[in-house]
Parts: sequence; structure tokens; C-alpha cells
Amino acid sequence: HVIVLDFGAQYNQLIARRVREAEIFSEVLPGDTPAATIRDKGADAVILSGGPASVFEPGAPTMDPAVFELGIPVLGICYGMQLMAHLLGGRVIPAARQEYGRSRMTIQRMVPLLEGLSSPSTVWMSHGDIVESAPPGFQVLASTPTTPIAAMGDPARNLWAVQYHPEVHHTPEGQRLIENFLYRVAGLRPDWRPAEVIDQAVAQIRAEVGEGRALIALSGGVDSAVAGALAARAIGDRLTAVLIDHGLMRADEVDEIRSVFADQIDLHIVDASEQFFAALAGVTDPEAKRKIIGREFIRAFEATEQALGPREVLIQGTVYPDVIESGGGQARTIKSHHNVGGLPEDMRFRVVEPLRWLFKDEVRRIGTALGLPDRLVWRHPFPGPGLAVRIIGEVTREKVAIVRAADAIVRQEIDRAGLNRQVWQAFAVLLDIRAVGVMGDQRTYGYPLVVRAVESLDGMTADWVRLPPEVLDAIANRVVGEVPAVNRVVYDITSKPPGTIEWE
Ligand code: XMP
Repeated sequence: HVIVLDFGAQYNQLIARRVREAEIFSEVLPGDTPAATIRDKGADAVILSGGPASVFEPGAPTMDPAVFELGIPVLGICYGMQLMAHLLGGRVIPAARQEYGRSRMTIQRMVPLLEGLSSPSTVWMSHGDIVESAPPGFQVLASTPTTPIAAMGDPARNLWAVQYHPEVHHTPEGQRLIENFLYRVAGLRPDWRPAEVIDQAVAQIRAEVGEGRALIALSGGVDSAVAGALAARAIGDRLTAVLIDHGLMRADEVDEIRSVFADQIDLHIVDASEQFFAALAGVTDPEAKRKIIGREFIRAFEATEQALGPREVLIQGTVYPDVIESGGGQARTIKSHHNVGGLPEDMRFRVVEPLRWLFKDEVRRIGTALGLPDRLVWRHPFPGPGLAVRIIGEVTREKVAIVRAADAIVRQEIDRAGLNRQVWQAFAVLLDIRAVGVMGDQRTYGYPLVVRAVESLDGMTADWVRLPPEVLDAIANRVVGEVPAVNRVVYDITSKPPGTIEWE
């Protein structure tokens, strides 16, 4: 497998994703991971990510130079290339001009890493420094008009580097370069496929659960459903599924889960909404809401567990981006996800997370391979804290009813337009301000509703969807007509970054 060393690039997860698209398992580790750890993990190749720093800055992220002596191929990308040059005796200098955007790269020397690439080919650059002279043993492989060393390599030591970003879509032949590195340079063969992933996950669940019995929390979403289906395959009747209905689910969600799972597994649906609304009363701070929901969720679980008889293990559908975003990788904690960072410390369950290495699209592929219905597999992701993070300000039953009704309309109209799969997530957010309107000669004073629809590959980055005006129109008309408390509809046109997908 491939280890991606993370030097703080915003999009470093993309590198891991691209490697997996080539059907090879990859994991992201902090940039300063010792070489011995990388060797002990049995890595077949290492990729050094980009990053915002400059190698000259005091405190700039660095790496264990012994990684270059492990005898496994290394590919440096952007900052990773500069670091490689810097540590191995090359010269890095600030570029005369920062280079940001598309550039045309010409190949100087053909090597397996560059095989099949056009010359010139379009590459995406984003850097302030450049490698002025390559380290001893390295050859210059390619250049652009502003970057004389756009790619370099030392075939003897199997060290390679590119100044551009092959992982982003703006580099059309980027995946080709990554595959060249994996298949031709590192000699890896693709084996990260649904059947293998399922076998591995099932084996891992069996090993981690041991002789014990496990509970799984179904949330209505695809992650917990796939985790549940995997766990059912792994431990069969030692698995009990519980759906804690916190009162913050989307319309019909609880019933749908019942219809899919009730005759397959031991399913308990627990109405805990009183407990959640009581704990949330008067709370407006987003992080506080998340923490409360995380805490009440576990409490409701523990109470259920006691009623059912002891279970040692809690199976959760945590996916890789949650792990990375909650500080599992180098990236800072952006939000405490309730299924990771928000867990209370007094939690008594041992947690098993069969999806913690998977990106969302991988989870979907696994779900289909496990035979789950399309309507579940293609359901839009839904945050653990539910509609609570889509109500700005205090969460009340009344506001949940409003946002739930509006949310159902938003999703119905997008589905009706045939856009459900292309849209990563579409939903409604209820604001805590009021606006004046007029309906049937009557002045209204109601809530504005935000409609948000984003496209994304994995939730790490996202762009707002250019919904056709007639779809937006249908949504606005229906929401204002059918949800009395709402008298105005606005559309969120912020991408991520700088926005996040959810509003809280
Ligand atoms: P953001 O808002 O951080 O969301 O751009 C990225 C993705 O994560 C989902 N999300 C959550 N999922 N628990 C979850 O299980 C959470 O607390 C949580 N917060 C956000 C969000 O819906 C999007 O898909």
C-alpha cells in the first residue's frame, strides 16, 4: 500500500483518493512520521504531499530523511518536491513570480513516470518557491516556461518529484502520472476493489469484535447502513441494530430504515426525542449543540444497551474524511464531528469503525456490492447531529418541523429534475431572522430559508450546483406555498472552501 505524507496541503486527501482510484490502498500520515514506522507498516511506496509552507520558513514541516533510504519509491509533489530537493542537497529558491494556475509542461527526458503524457501537457501549478538546481543524482525530466525543473528524478534511488499538482482535476493527465508512479515505477498491482475491501472489512470486524456482541447505530444514512450490512455479514446474530430517533431526522427516514432492515437484522427503534429537545433547549452555539447531541446520543445508546443486555462493542460508520477532519491526519480540527471528536470521555463501548479507511464514493460502491437498495446507497450524506445543525439558533420541535418540510421539498424537486446523483447534498437551512413579505394582500413576517445544493467527490471540497432556474423556481414556490412559517427562499452560492457544506 501507499503512504501519503501530509505536509498540510488543503487537498492532500485528494492524493490518497487518486491512488485509490487506481485501486491501490493508501493512507495519509503526518509528514514527520518516522521512516521506521513507514517500513513497519509495509509501505510499498511513499508520496510527499504539497503544503502551504516554504522550506526556508522556521518551523516549516519537514520529514525523516531516512525515508529516502528505505529503498521504496518516493514521489514528491509540490512542497514535497521542494523538501526532497532541500534535504538531498539541491537548491530551492523563491520564484521570481508565484505561479498559480494552468501551465504547459514539456518533457525533457522520457522515463517510465512520464510515459504516455503529452508534451506539452497542461499541468496545474500553485507554488511560491522553485527548485533551482536538482540534488546530486537527479535528472531534470520536464519544465514549463516559468519553472525550469517541473519534474525531476533519480532512477538509481527511485526518487521522483513533480512541481505541479497531478491530483487535481485541472491537471488533465494527472491521474496518468499517478498511475505511472504506482504501476510502472513502484510495480504495484491494483487490488483495492469492492470484493477485496468487503473481505478485509469483514475480517477486521470479526477480529475486533472477537467473541463479543455488538451494537450498531443506524442513522438513516448510507454510512451506517453499509457498516451495518458489513457487520451483519461478519458477526451475524451477534449484531443488534439500534436507531436512536433523536427527533432530528429527515422526513420518512425512520420508516425507510424500518422497511429496509426490519426483516434482515435485530432492529430496535428508540424514540429519544424528548431527551434531545430538553438538552438542546436554549442552546444556540453550534459546537455546543454538536457536543450535546453527541453526548445524548451515547447516553441514549447506553440506556438502550442496558435494556437489551450487555454489548461490548459499538460499530460506527465513521468514514475517512471524518477521521482526517477531526485531526486524525495533519489537518486542523475544522468541526468536531459528532461521531468522532464529540464522543464523551466516559463512553463505555469499544468502538469499531469498519469504514474508517473509506471515502464516500467507496462506501457507496461497497453498499451496492453488498446488495443494498439504490435509494439507500444514493441517499445524500446527512450529518450525525441531524437537522439541528441546519437550524441556526435554538432547536425547537416547531423549527425542526419547518426545516424538515422544506428539506423534503428541496430533495423532491431535485430528484424530480433527475439531478439526485449528480448532487452530493441538497438541503434546507432555517435562519433565525425574519423577513417581511406579502401574500394575498397580507403582510407576512416569516423565516427566510436557505437552499443549499453542492457537488463534491468526498465532502472535503465542494462547489455549489448551478441548479436550473426552473428547479430553483419550483423549490421557492412550493416552500413558500406549503411551509407557512417560511416567506422567503435564498440560494447559497458559496463553495467549500471557503464555506463549509453545512451552516454549523
Ligand atoms: P462540512 O459542513 O464540514 O461537511 O463541509 C462535510 C460533510 O460532512 C457532513 N457532516 C457531518 N457528518 N457528523 C457527520 O456524520 C457531523 O457532525 C457532521 N458535520 C458535517 C456534512 O453533511 C458533509 O457531508
